[in-house]
Amino acid sequence: MFVTFEGIEGSGKSTQAVRFYRYLKDMSVPVILTREPGGTKQGERIRDILLDSDASDLVSCAELLLYTADRAQHVQTVIRPALDEGKWVLCDRFIDATIAYQGYARGLDISFIELINRKVCCGVWPDITFLFDLPVEVGLERAVNRNREMNQESNGRFEQEAIAFHEAVRRGYHMLAAADQKRFVRVDAMLSEEEITARLIEHIEDIAKPALRRHLL
Ligand code: TMP
Repeated sequence: MFVTFEGIEGSGKSTQAVRFYRYLKDMSVPVILTREPGGTKQGERIRDILLDSDASDLVSCAELLLYTADRAQHVQTVIRPALDEGKWVLCDRFIDATIAYQGYARGLDISFIELINRKVCCGVWPDITFLFDLPVEVGLERAVNRNREMNQESNGRFEQEAIAFHEAVRRGYHMLAAADQKRFVRVDAMLSEEEITARLIEHIEDIAKPALRRHLL
C-alpha cells in the first residue's frame, strides 16, 4: 500500500505522516516513512539545492527536473523495493506536489510533467493520497512560526513566494482531488492533530481493510 501526504506549506502533513506511521508500527504493520524531495542520500543533496533560499535564480524547468530526478532515485532505490517486499510506504509529498507547484503554480506544461513522471515512476503510483487542506494565510503563518521555533535564519525558497503562488498551489491540489476522488481523501487541516489522525485511521480502516487484515493475522 502506497500512501502519500500532500498539502500547502504549514498544512501539518508531515506531523500527520509521523503519527500515522507510529499507528501502523503499533499495529505491527511493516511500514516505512519517507519524503520528497529527499528520502535517499542523493535526494537529500538535491533537496538542499531545491530549498536553498539563495537559489532564487533557479529556473522553473531546472526545478522540475531536479524534483523529477529526486523521484527517480527515490522510486527505484526506496519505494519500489519496499512495496515489492510487501511493506506499506508512507511518503511525505510525491507526484501531486509536482503538478500543483510546478504545474499549476509555476505554469509548466502539466502533460509534460505527467509524461516524465510516469516514466520515472515505472508504474509506481499512490493508492491513497491524503490532502491536508486549509486557507493559505493560516498555513503560511504556521510555517513561518515553525521556522522561527526551529531557529532557522530565513524561510525556505517556497515560503518566500507570494500569496498568489500558494493560492495557485492550493487550487491545483483541489483540481487534482476533484479529478481523482477515488484516490484523494481531503482532510480539514484546521482540526486538532488528534482529530485529524483519527480521521486518517478511520479512512484507512475502510479503504485498506484487506491489506491491514493480512498483516494483523
Ligand atoms: P516540504 O516542506 O513538504 O518538505 O516540501 C519541500 C518543498 O518542495 C515544498 O515547498 C513543496 C516543494 N515541492 C515542489 O515544489 N515540487 C515537488 O515535486 C515536491 C515533492 C515538493
